[in-house]
Amino acid sequence: MPRVGKNPLRSRSAPGRSRAGAAGRRTPPAGMPLGSAPALHPRRPCRGRRAPPLAARADEALCAPGRAALLPSFLPSPSLPFPSLPSVLGAVLAAMLLPCVRSGAARRLARDAPRACSCSARRPPARGYSRGAAGKGLVLGVYTSEKDDGAAQFTSAGDAFDRLVSGKLRALLSLCGPPLKKGKTRIFHGLHQDFPSVVVVGLGKKNAGINEQENWNEGKENIRTAVAVGCRQIQDLEIPCVEVDPCGDAQAAAEGAVLGLHEYNELKQKKKPVVSPQLHGSAESQAWQKGVIYAEGQNLARYLMEAPANYITPIKFAEHIEQKLRTFSNVKVHIRPESWITTQEMGAFLSVAKGSAEPPIFLEIHYLGGAITNDSPLVFVGKGVTFDSGGISLKPSLGMDAMRADMGGAATVCSAIVTAAALNLPLNIIGLAPLCENMPSGKANKPGDVVRAKNGKTIQVDNTDAEGRLLLADALCYAHNFNARAIVNAATLTGAMDVALGSAATGVFTNSSWLWTHLYEASILTGDRVWRMPLFEHYTKQVTDCPLADVSNIGKYSRAGGACTAAAFLKEFVTASHWAHLDIAGVMSNKDEVPYLRKGMAGRPTRTLVEFAARLSQDSHNAK
Ligand code: BES
Ligand code: ZN
Ligand code: ZN
Repeated sequence: MPRVGKNPLRSRSAPGRSRAGAAGRRTPPAGMPLGSAPALHPRRPCRGRRAPPLAARADEALCAPGRAALLPSFLPSPSLPFPSLPSVLGAVLAAMLLPCVRSGAARRLARDAPRACSCSARRPPARGYSRGAAGKGLVLGVYTSEKDDGAAQFTSAGDAFDRLVSGKLRALLSLCGPPLKKGKTRIFHGLHQDFPSVVVVGLGKKNAGINEQENWNEGKENIRTAVAVGCRQIQDLEIPCVEVDPCGDAQAAAEGAVLGLHEYNELKQKKKPVVSPQLHGSAESQAWQKGVIYAEGQNLARYLMEAPANYITPIKFAEHIEQKLRTFSNVKVHIRPESWITTQEMGAFLSVAKGSAEPPIFLEIHYLGGAITNDSPLVFVGKGVTFDSGGISLKPSLGMDAMRADMGGAATVCSAIVTAAALNLPLNIIGLAPLCENMPSGKANKPGDVVRAKNGKTIQVDNTDAEGRLLLADALCYAHNFNARAIVNAATLTGAMDVALGSAATGVFTNSSWLWTHLYEASILTGDRVWRMPLFEHYTKQVTDCPLADVSNIGKYSRAGGACTAAAFLKEFVTASHWAHLDIAGVMSNKDEVPYLRKGMAGRPTRTLVEFAARLSQDSHNAK
């Protein structure tokens, strides 16, 4: 593997184009928001907000079919913090009547209750309602009962809150229907004046841990889901601040909150209300902060992937990342222009870029977090096609808009580096992102064209839609300049990957079991799973049997094993002994499969890449 000079991390930027971080910039404290516009500010002080009039909301609950409504007249009033027993009984009676009786006594009881709460949170409260004291939302977890009695098994935060309100939370919860299933919620209004709305959410089994079948930590996944659902309920109520039960794993809780609330609404005039999640209680604040940073890293990737291709062009992408890294004194960012790419003889990358009017960019990031600046770095490479029309091998128009996220590889690896910098991880990381558009034009690649990659290999471009591997071929050659500990590339490379695994896991093709183990173990913790795929010679033969060049950019048996032939193609440009190719096409977007991510571009597997880098930073160099 070639080494460049003494210090493999030293900048080699073209004059005038290097945008190294200014000297003297300080590394910001952990917890600095990473995302752009969607960044959440977890410790932002909440502005006062008033709770809805409870009787009115009880009426609303009456209209919500299938939901139990609770009307505790005993709820604290400013002058009388705790209820009298008769009022408790009145509320209990009303609650028992409500699910089945929608008129008469129950309705009157509901309306007459001086303070009431409702389980309906579908509609945000109408503006102009008179509300209680300034307050926050509160999300509390509850485990599935292990006993037959169905009694709520609160987390320690839930228990403490229940004691604070003299056991009313438990009483109400037992009244409002069957025990809470995983991810299901009940909302109680007016229980405590600091928390006008409390969402209780089901966490599933208390002892859930690593699930060997599922290859993830189920307990963490349950927390992420529950907290995300709870926080969204608070958002629906337009409450700007929510305190979150750490549920025994504050990192997972923070991830659930920050990922669950994220939505791309940059370009809409009417935006969803911003909700700032905070940790409920003071224990585990470091873990909470870590979770916020991990989630904001993924949100940054989601933001870049979701944004329209006319907003995130190659140069805009690079500038956005550069701006995110500006505050770190130990990061250098080089935005390499087309002239630099030409001098690097990246003929495969350039052949794709030339079809578009948008100039290509090669983004190069050096994060020096290691104790020794010339410690061998981890090198990340990401496919950065900011729009993939297919080129002359044009894609069908239906769904083509999703190809604005074809820079997901670049987005996830760059976001992982931003996150690593925010976490101050003690290792060196280099990020490489070839960025361009794949467009049809008079200058575009034509099927059958032959181009030459940086390592001299010739490539027959049999399908211009198999462009990602052309960019990556050159970027992977370049990655070998850094004496890397490991080279890991991520790319939305093949539709075939989506066919194989869907959105369950990223496909990993690697020549290193050491690397695989680290990636796999990282993914169990993050819940953003990986699955090992083959790099057999079988597939190599299918790309090297090529009429005009050393290698074809598609397998000779067309669609068969499409993700595997793409990986075999990339392998032709790798000599490093620790390389992994992550095909992230299947996990690019989310419909509803990951419950703590809204519909849209998923930013996966950013957290797994971060966790992987964190593990590598703890691993002795001799391990490889
Ligand atoms: N960017 C696509 C792959 C893709 C498809 C990503 C769906 C995300 C969702 C890639 O450039 C591509 O078009 N690949 C072709 C390769 C084929 C022509 C050999 C594909 O998968 O169809
Ligand atoms: Zn393509
Ligand atoms: Zn593509």
